[in-house]
Parts: sequence; C-alpha cells; structure tokens
Amino acid sequence: TVFDCNVIDFSKVDTEDGNITVVQNDGSLPFDIKRVYYLYDIPAGEMRGGHAHYKLEQFIIASSGSFDVIIDDGNFRKRINLNRPNLALHIKPGLWRELDNFASGSICMVLASHKYVESDYIRDYNQFIIEKTGENAH
Ligand code: TYD
Repeated sequence: TVFDCNVIDFSKVDTEDGNITVVQNDGSLPFDIKRVYYLYDIPAGEMRGGHAHYKLEQFIIASSGSFDVIIDDGNFRKRINLNRPNLALHIKPGLWRELDNFASGSICMVLASHKYVESDYIRDYNQFIIEKTGENAH
C-alpha cells in the first residue's frame, strides 16, 4: 500500500565546499540498483509518470529543484513533496504514480531495480484499478 512507501534520508557528506551523497549497492538498500534515469527540461505545469509497475521498485529523488509525487494503491492516495537531493521516496511495486508541481529547472532522478521492460508497465488507470480491486473504476 502507499503506507509502505517511505522517504529515506541517504547519508550526506558535509564538506566546507558543499555536500556529497553516495548511493551504492552495499547491502544497505532495500533493492539493488540496475538502472538510473533522470527527467529534466520539464515544461511548467507538466504531469509525468501516470503508470504503475508490476515488479519495478524505485527511488525517486529531486536531485535539483522540487516536485510532488502522488502514489496510489487503488484505495489510498498520498502526495509527497521532494525538494532535497539527499531524500529519496522509495516506491514499492504495484503502485500508480504521478509527478507534478515541478519547479523550473528541476531534475527528477530515478534509481530503479530493473532495466527498462515495457511489459512491466500498466499505463491505463482503469486497468490498474481493475487489476487491484477486480472492479471497474468508473
Ligand atoms: P515514461 O516512463 O512513459 O515517462 P514518465 O513516466 O517519466 O512520464 O517514458 C517515456 C519514454 O521514454 C517512453 O517512450 C519509454 C522511454 N524510456 C526508455 O526507453 N527507457 C527507460 O528506462 C525509461 C524510463 C523510459
């Protein structure tokens, strides 16, 4: 459910000249990272995401700027604002997600548990609800 998705605070190396945050597969993460991608040059007012995954697990990070992530498990919706590069929202499999309220210049970095597989996507919300609840969303 959406209540299984927490914001994790990755450690921050504080130097006089700025900060460094390190993320590595050292056994401390809930999944091994196989893919990194990032969204940028996002037009004002744009909504991204709008899909669910069967298997994929992700960390979503505002490596620059700020945006909101809306997660939805078919019963509950939760809106989380991300605005610091050391904070990551852990999204478990089987949840619908949307991203909006992008501040201009924002970079959304995603650390993912698997390589890109189109068949892992559910891109239709009604289909998602049917698979979650066995009922039609309308
Ligand atoms: P999509 O996941 O729909 O974008 P978002 O959820 O960020 O709104 O991906 C947009 C396009 O990019 C789509 O044509 C698939 C392609 N894509 C890849 O080829 N590889 C990837 O790892 C990702 C995430 C997307």
